Amino acid sequence: MAAALAAEEKLFARIAEDLLANSWSVLPACLPTALSTALQQQLHSMGTIDFSPAGIGRGTDHAVVAQVRRDEILWIEGATAAEREWLDWSGRLQSYLNRRLFLGLFSFESHFAHYGPGAFYRKHLDAFKAQSNLDAAGGDGTNRVVSLVAYFNSQWQPEDGGELVLYAADGNMEVGRVTPALGTLVVFLSEDIPHEVLPAQRDRFSIAGWYRINQTRHGRTDPPR
Ligand code: OGA
Ligand code: MN
Repeated sequence: MAAALAAEEKLFARIAEDLLANSWSVLPACLPTALSTALQQQLHSMGTIDFSPAGIGRGTDHAVVAQVRRDEILWIEGATAAEREWLDWSGRLQSYLNRRLFLGLFSFESHFAHYGPGAFYRKHLDAFKAQSNLDAAGGDGTNRVVSLVAYFNSQWQPEDGGELVLYAADGNMEVGRVTPALGTLVVFLSEDIPHEVLPAQRDRFSIAGWYRINQTRHGRTDPPR
């Protein structure tokens, strides 16, 4: 138990140091094994019937969305023991990052994502700096500050594609390429690191999550839940 806590503290410290130094962190096979296998098992047993095509911002045309991303998603609400364990773990990382980096992270949202053969997600940012200004004026930003991605694919081969590519803030220089293998974690600053998912050649499962700051003001609740 004490050893597990020490291992967790070490992992969280590594993430915080990487974020400080580079704005991103890639840690292969780092999610606790019991947690990754429980989530992988859930993904295998539930199938993708309840997943819905992912969107890009409110009210974007379906044809436009399909140019940008082809994954399907299911929000994680804590319906199973594995989901609750995931929410507990990501909550502890949130507290750690707040303690170490004073980020003021307020809430966390996450979803399972399934990329079928041929699915991709074009280069994008998870949040926009300008949006913080818009928010102050009453816009509808996402408040996302830190992005977290975890992978649940065993025996992923180079020919399976589906890598996550991370870019420097200018959006041109590739700084990292991630194989979506079981237990691999990726953490980055949502406003600073453009990234894309290359076309997958077989079913690819991940969780994408975001820590958000609280921008509730003038009686307007933001984030909404
Ligand atoms: C996202 C995203 C990456 C992945 O959902 O915003 O960038 O590898 N996902 O699933
Ligand atoms: Mn993203």
